[in-house]
Order: sequence, then structure tokens, then C-alpha cells
Amino acid sequence: MITPIRWEADRLLLLDQTLLPVEERVREYTRWRDVAESIRSLVVRGAPAIGCAAAFGVALAARESRARDGETLLADLEEAFKGLAATRPTAVNLFWALDRMRAVASAHQALPVPALQLRLLGEAQAILEEDLAANHALGAHGADLVPEGARILTHCNAGALATAGYGTAVGVIRAAHERGKVALVWVDETRPVMQGSRLTAWEMVKEGIPHKLISDVAAGFVMKRGEVDLVVTGADRIAANGDTANKIGTYSVAVLARHHGVPFYVAAPFSTIDASIPSGAAIPIEERDASEVRGMGGRQTAPAESPVYNPAFDVTPAELITGIITERGIFRPPYSFT
Ligand code: MRU
Repeated sequence: MITPIRWEADRLLLLDQTLLPVEERVREYTRWRDVAESIRSLVVRGAPAIGCAAAFGVALAARESRARDGETLLADLEEAFKGLAATRPTAVNLFWALDRMRAVASAHQALPVPALQLRLLGEAQAILEEDLAANHALGAHGADLVPEGARILTHCNAGALATAGYGTAVGVIRAAHERGKVALVWVDETRPVMQGSRLTAWEMVKEGIPHKLISDVAAGFVMKRGEVDLVVTGADRIAANGDTANKIGTYSVAVLARHHGVPFYVAAPFSTIDASIPSGAAIPIEERDASEVRGMGGRQTAPAESPVYNPAFDVTPAELITGIITERGIFRPPYSFT
């Protein structure tokens, strides 16, 4: 089993995703600021995974504090809440997990400090375990939709690495593969950070799932040839109307899928739904460094002077989404998640 995040004794362990697929190195964290940096620098990435890591970041902040009473501890935690929230703006799971940790801290502030520290660690562990369970449940729901001998296209990495384990979109693929339904997974390489080729393809190899890596620009061609039966991707934030932010390029895949009559599914746990946002227009889109577009693997592939626009996510309008697969079942348009 691929375990990207785990707690051991007094520390958080993260599989460093920036080094995959070349090297499998686990890094250890005992300070919340380092956890924040690991989220910012993509050591840990993927919406549910950054929520889990941030929750453990808060638990670490509580252990770092010298407070002698709950009220002072809560005041100390504010800096960690702010610092962790400032790491990445798009995936709502980060803010969802921080809100959950804040609620536990304030509900139990009357406890002695060691008990409150333990309570916060317990909540982070619960977030991790619940995410894993949600992925198994949504994987099973999604696998029901997959036809025998399916050829499935996915974008980015919504796998075990992007979650507490098992994955969302890749969870659906895993569950369908366990039922013997998957003939082939088309893995989009996912420029510019290459989560498809570096991470999803790595997971496919580990699991022995038949797959072929394609450049992002080949997706339309394989659909035109009738070689894709369905698309399934993950999500970073789903608005109340079903509009879905996910890795840059997802929208292009959804448009291509509609043009070619291929069903386009999104798979995500309920922690990815942001009911406070009416539509995708209000989803904040992270912009990342120009160097990601001007080069690849440390090699310059564009003039250093060329201005760059590098949005890390895009929004797929609800009308292009055939269904949203969650742990509570499959939602269809018009979307309503209550
Ligand atoms: O920039 P990343 O790698 O964090 O982006 C990840 C994605 O866009 C995933 O598809 C999404 O978070 C879903 S993960 C289950």
C-alpha cells in the first residue's frame, strides 16, 4: 500500500513527492513551519493530502507551544493556522481541515494542555483515517460506473499520493481494476509539474495496472480514435453548483470529452465540496512560478526573458461533468449536495 502521510511516535512522516519516481524518500517533521513549507513546495500535494498534512501541522504546533493553559495554547495556534492557510489557495480541503482543528481546539480549551495536545493529534489522525475510508467508499461507487474492458483517461494525480491513501480518481480506477474491468488507463503527463507522468504512472506501475502515458496534447487524438470510454479526474474544490476546480488542463480534457461523447466524471470526498461558493467563478486559482513553464527537470526550454502565465488549476463548468463520485454516492446534474 502507498502511504504518503503517517504519524510515528512524535513526528509526521511524508513521502517526498518532488523526488518521485526516481527516489522514494520519507522526510520527518516535528515543526509546523516545516510542514507548511512541505505543502508550499509540493513535497505533499493533492487536495485531501494537504488537508491531512495541515491538520498534523496544527498538532505539531500544539506540541511546540510552551503554553500552560488552553487559552494561551489557542492564541499560540493562531500563527500556525494563518501560516498553514497561506500555503496554497485553491484546494478547499486545506481550509476544511484547519477549520476542523480550530473547532476541536476551542471546544476543548478547558482541558489541561497535554490532554488538549493529544486531542488535536487524535483529530488529525481521524481526518487521515476518514479520508482513507471515504476513498475506498467512493472507489466502490465509481467502479460500478466502469464498463467491462474499460479504457479510462485520467489527468494529474488523484491517487494514493494525493490523499491519505487509495486515491479518488485513481481510487475508482483501483476498485475497477480489482474487479477486472480495466483494459487500459491513459495517463496524461500533466504539464508543467508532471503529476501524471511522475506520480500517477508510478502508482500504475506499483499496482500493475495496464496504462499508457500520453502527452497532454494527445488526449484529443486518442478520444477521436474511439479509444477512451470514460474520463475520471479528481478535484480541488467543487462549488455548490458543481463547477469543479482541478489541475490545469482538466477543463480542456472535459471539453474534448464532451466533443467526442465520452463521459467525464469527477471523483472527490465531501471535504472537497465548498457549499459556501455558489459557482466556480469564486474559486481562487493559484498561480505558480514562471520557472515551471520556462523549463523542465532543471533544463531551460524557453527564453529566460519570456513572460509566463502559470495558473496551477482551472475550473470545469458543471454542465461538462457527467457525474460527481463521492463516498455518499454519485451526484448528477443539476448538482445539489445537501
Ligand atoms: O498541484 P497539485 O498537485 O496539488 O494538484 C493536484 C490536483 O489537481 C488533483 O487532481 C486534486 O488535488 C485531486 S487529489 C485527490
